Amino acid sequence: MGSITLQKVSKVFGEAKVIPSIDLEIKDGEFVVFVGPSGCGKSTLLRLIAGLEDVSGGKIVIDGKDATESAPSERRLAMVFQSYALYPHMSVRSNIAFPLKMAGMPKPEIDKKVADAARVLNLTDYLDRKPRALSGGQRQRVAIGRAIVRQPSAFLFDEPLSNLDAALRVNMRLEISELHQQLKTTMIYVTHDQVEAMTMADKIVVLNRGNIEQVGSPLELYSRPRNLFVAGFIGSPKMNFVTGQNAAAQGAHTIGVRPEHMQLSMQSGDWKGKVIVAEHLGSDTFLHVDVEGIGQMTARGDGNFPAKAGDTVYMTADKTRIHKFGQDGLAI
Ligand SMILES: Nc1ncnc2c1ncn2[C@@H]1O[C@H](COP(=O)(O)OP(=O)(O)OP(=O)(O)O)[C@@H](O)[C@H]1O
Ligand SMILES: [Mg+2]
Repeated sequence: MGSITLQKVSKVFGEAKVIPSIDLEIKDGEFVVFVGPSGCGKSTLLRLIAGLEDVSGGKIVIDGKDATESAPSERRLAMVFQSYALYPHMSVRSNIAFPLKMAGMPKPEIDKKVADAARVLNLTDYLDRKPRALSGGQRQRVAIGRAIVRQPSAFLFDEPLSNLDAALRVNMRLEISELHQQLKTTMIYVTHDQVEAMTMADKIVVLNRGNIEQVGSPLELYSRPRNLFVAGFIGSPKMNFVTGQNAAAQGAHTIGVRPEHMQLSMQSGDWKGKVIVAEHLGSDTFLHVDVEGIGQMTARGDGNFPAKAGDTVYMTADKTRIHKFGQDGLAI
């Protein structure tokens, strides 16, 4: 069991209304990702759910019970942070066992739980090592192991992978997704990383200044962003926005076209521009182009698209994938 409901939850720090009022429903077993710009309140919201911070108003219901006033330990949630905060003088085994030992669990039971967690996390061979003899990814797995043994009704992750290098992040991302499929426990995961959000989430919650801009599956948010904020936030590189005549001709105040929905050509197309920067990634080419009468736009082409800085290129938007927004910023 791990359903979590927020009803008009708010948080004020002194004068600052960090979270004005949030309503959110998280179903048992769901993988929910919180995304949003730095300072928008992701960690605060997670800490409110965990009980590490008191709400200023509203209600938090966990598994059908009002948990608003419950102590963190009574909520049966496990939090995993960016800094894994392992005890350096203890072995991996003791680190994982620590919360159980504190809870006074009998040793045979602890040993079994630690062994189970270690198996799930591929840490069996490392149980006798100290954290300093582990890689970053292994350390993060130990931190997750410490959370798993408590059999929480939900895991709360606050940017758990942001200390890891790119390759390890990819591995750990897959491992956490696998873990979720195995355990089927509710997970709330905060990240800055587009790819993590898109690939891991059943449901993404886009936050902006403490408000929810949109909640939906990754592909819903990608294909039907509700407003300019979500359109600009989900997707990498960002969606291009065009205002003025080009947009008015389409009956919109602003039109949005994703870089991957533009056809690139060296010969002809709707928009002509000069390449400012060409990023050749091998798999793709990203061109940052100064378009006449519009400004800078980004387009994605094939990995072998030959353009380089200074070249003139042409771009044509896929008409079926143009997003239209009104003056109020809402999708039309
Ligand atoms: N204890 C506190 N006292 C006062 N202000 C706080 C406190 N904790 C957080 N804030 C403020 O609340 C806002 C939201 O902070 P929070 O840490 O939730 O953001 P975040 O979305 O997690 O950002 P990041 O992506 O940088 O981690 C920020 O403006 C922050 O300065
Ligand atoms: Mg944060």
